[in-house]
This record gives sequence, structure tokens and C-alpha cells, in this order.
Amino acid sequence: MPFKRDDLPRLVNDPFKGKGGFMPDKIRDKITVRVGLNENLTFPKDVIKRLLQQVAETIDPRVYPEDYCDSLCEILAKENKLDPSQVIIGNGGDKIIDLMVRLTIYKGDSAVLVLPTYPMYEHAIKVQGGEITTCLLSPAPDFDINVDELLASVTSRDRLLFLCSPNNPTGNQFSQEKLEKIISSFPGIVALDETYSDFADYSMVPLLHKYPNLIIMKSMSKFFGMAGMRIGYALADEFLIKRLKELLPAFNVNIASLELAKLVLQEKKVLQKMVSEIIAERERTFTALQTIDGIDAYPSSTNFILFKVLEKEAQQVQQTLLKEKGVLVRNMSALPRCENCLRVSITTKENNNKFLEALSAVLQSS
Ligand SMILES: Cc1ncc(COP(=O)(O)O)c(C=O)c1O
Repeated sequence: MPFKRDDLPRLVNDPFKGKGGFMPDKIRDKITVRVGLNENLTFPKDVIKRLLQQVAETIDPRVYPEDYCDSLCEILAKENKLDPSQVIIGNGGDKIIDLMVRLTIYKGDSAVLVLPTYPMYEHAIKVQGGEITTCLLSPAPDFDINVDELLASVTSRDRLLFLCSPNNPTGNQFSQEKLEKIISSFPGIVALDETYSDFADYSMVPLLHKYPNLIIMKSMSKFFGMAGMRIGYALADEFLIKRLKELLPAFNVNIASLELAKLVLQEKKVLQKMVSEIIAERERTFTALQTIDGIDAYPSSTNFILFKVLEKEAQQVQQTLLKEKGVLVRNMSALPRCENCLRVSITTKENNNKFLEALSAVLQSS
């Protein structure tokens, strides 16, 4: 019997029942203040231009890039005092998340999520047909982990635990003691997402020498200002990295991104200045948010701030900011513990001021 179009639904996986897809809604409104995706808009454009010109002079796009980005693995290994065999580069941090799930979860297995957190973990687990064990953070403003509760909720089917520290969207970094207790007690692999750790107080990378079940995931999209180039990486025991590399599609990072990443990593002075500026702006914006009536802002160790809208609908405030002021913030209300909350990225001083002005105006209007 020939194929009929009606056969299509029967032939494809449908973990989201047609309502999935990870991308935020397509935005057709004109955005003048882009503070919704935690991009780093403070990276000086003249430096980027100089580096891109250097890339253009060195690469030959007619040939494939290095298969596993070995030259970048070597640089990152040195910076983190590890062996290059302990580094994997992926097409964005999201690719690493996807690989971690594909490495550990098969139908019937499950992974632990500490909610609210970065929704991509759940997405990747569902795509793979896995189950999810959840544990809730304490309510605002602490958003802290109850380690005993978390460990008690683990089942024999849980093979992987995602932890995000500092956590997106709550912004807080969990204590080193709590993180180590979890890593040392969890009977599976702990994938610790440190995408935002450069804006925070510490990294748990030194623990990699002690715990072979720990994998630390990083991204070059935030601190390094390269969201559009799609570079993420992970650091772990050589065994895990080898297995992850076996799952990678060939040449998964393009030649321009690879070369630009290496050049950006050399710009130590620029990066240092940038992070100081972002942290100073974050604290200034947080202080300003505390003076605005009608919201509760939560402290952050990242390049974004989560705040609760108290007397209006967050969804409505978000839409008015976008449609009337051209300010794009992210509505996080669908996540537990984030009811009626919005998230704003900390970018340039000018953007932060425009956001603060727009938010005050929208909250004051009836
Ligand atoms: C916590 C967290 N992890 C990973 C990522 C993925 O970053 P990318 O795929 O841009 O490297 C993001 C992006 O927003 C994030 O917030």
C-alpha cells in the first residue's frame, strides 16, 4: 500500500503532542531594548570587528573544520588545569545538554531536575523519551536547595541530575558545601551547568579531580559575548568525554566560530573589564528595582535579574513593555516558584536605564 499523507503522525515521535519546540515565540514587534535572552551586549563592537577580520584572514571555509576542535580543547584544558581529553566542544551549551541526555537516558530511565530551572533540560529529556523526577527549590527570595529532600526524592531509575548554578531563572548560586554534598551522594551523573559562573563568586571545576560522576557544562554565549556563534563546552572525566564525543555529529562546530572562540579567549583584559562593568550594572539595576513600587526583585549572581510583579499581570506588563516601549524581557511565570515573574538581562548602562524607565512607566499606568 503506498504512503498516504495521513500516515505521517504515526511515523514521527511526538513527545510534546504538537505543542513543543523550545524557541520563544517569534517576536514581530520592534525591539529597541533587547533584554530577554541574557546576551552580553557589552562586548565592544570594535573588538569584535577586529577579531572577525582576523578570522576572515585565517580561515578557509571551503574545507571542514577540525573534527573535535582539538586546538580549542587544549586552550580550555590549560585554563581549567585539566587534560585536553577532559574537554568537549559543542554547537552551543544546548548541544552539550542534549548529548548528556542522549548518553545517559533511554526510555524508562529518568533524570532529576531541581525546579525552577533552565527549561532545556526538561525538553531534552522528553525528546529522548525519559522520565523526570522533580524537586522544588525553596520559595523566593532564597530559592535554595534542600539537599536531604533532593536526595530522598531520587529513585533507582534516576541516572542523571541537572543542576544549574548560578541558576537560571532565579539568579542565585548554590553554596559550595551543598553542591559537593549532592555530587558526592547522588548515585548517578551530576551535570552541573555553570553557564553563568563567570558573573558569580566561584566555580566547582576544581572538584572534577575528585568526582568522576561530575560533568561541568559551560557556554561562550554569555560572559564571552558569542551567543550568535554557538559554542558550548563541557569538562569531565576522560571516560565521559570520550563517550560524549562518540555521540557528536561530525564537524559539529563551524570553522569561523572555532577560530573566533580562540581569539576571544585571548582578550583577557577586555573580558575582565566587561565582567566588572556587568556586575556593577547588575548591582545598580538591582538597587534601582528595589525603589520601584509594585515589584519584588531578587538578588542575582548572573547577568540577569528575576523580579515578581505584585499588583498586575506579569504577562500584561511584559506585553506592554514590548509593544509600547520596545523593551523585550522574558516572562517566567509558567515555571514553579516564579509565578508572575519577569526576567531582565543586564546589558549596557543605556539599555538598563531605558528598561528601568519603561518598567516604572508601565507599572504606574493604569
Ligand atoms: C542555564 C543555561 N544553560 C545553557 C544555556 C545554553 O546556552 P548556549 O546554547 O547559547 O550556549 C543557556 C542559555 O540561555 C542557559 O541559560
